[in-house]
Amino acid sequence: MKPKKPKSKSKNLHNSKNLHISKNLPKSKISKNKNSKIVCIAAVAMTIDGKIARYSGHASNWTSKEDKRHLHKIEDSCDVMVVGRKSYKLAQKPLSKRNVVVFTRSVETTQKESERLVLLNPQNVDFVKFAAEKNYSRACVLGGPEIYSYFLEHNLLDELYITVEPLVFGEGLGLFNRPVETKNFKLKSVKKLNKCGTLLQHYVKS
Ligand SMILES: NC(=O)c1ccc[n+]([C@@H]2O[C@H](COP(=O)([O-])OP(=O)(O)OC[C@H]3O[C@@H](n4cnc5c(N)ncnc54)[C@H](OP(=O)(O)O)[C@@H]3O)[C@@H](O)[C@H]2O)c1
Repeated sequence: MKPKKPKSKSKNLHNSKNLHISKNLPKSKISKNKNSKIVCIAAVAMTIDGKIARYSGHASNWTSKEDKRHLHKIEDSCDVMVVGRKSYKLAQKPLSKRNVVVFTRSVETTQKESERLVLLNPQNVDFVKFAAEKNYSRACVLGGPEIYSYFLEHNLLDELYITVEPLVFGEGLGLFNRPVETKNFKLKSVKKLNKCGTLLQHYVKS
């Protein structure tokens, strides 16, 4: 009898037919809140050389329309967006219709700016408790690097959607901006989004 071929996981990584993100994130596929802790999902666009911006203040207008479409879907699937003060300044308009928490040290605890917008200092306010009080179950973490690092080092990053655009900056800001203990993620899906080869990678905490 012929021995069974072992299933090769690495082979699947290169086969976009085998690995795909669900288009409309159906409810059954949306991560559930197991311990009533908010599920935190980072959405990132980066270049081939791992940069998310050329400099602080560089707007994300270099991403593909397919990435923008994907980002809106992820945002739609979340109750609240979390963003650093500088990134918020750049994305204020598109975020105006969403619940937004802006991390800043300029307030002691929290400050409600409007029905949808709260400034929060995570040094003095536990974001997870804050989110529970608001009945938020899914947060979309929108960066920049300090915010991604904050969620990573506090073990709050449950999922990462990384769009790799086929561009090179050769300089700029990385996804995270400080060392952390090694964290493990598992690749859940990879999808080619367009003819240029923009890749959407979906990682989950392992
Ligand atoms: N490609 C992408 O996916 C992507 C995603 C996001 C951002 N970006 C880019 O990244 C750049 C912005 O990143 P950035 O690092 O300069 O700024 P940022 O992370 O957006 O904002 C930094 C600010 O957030 C506040 N903050 C950060 N960590 C905090 C903490 N632990 N506690 C309290 N407040 C905290 C501080 O605000 P205060 O100074 O008010 O205290 C800090 O100055 C932009 O160019 C943007 O386009 C790219």
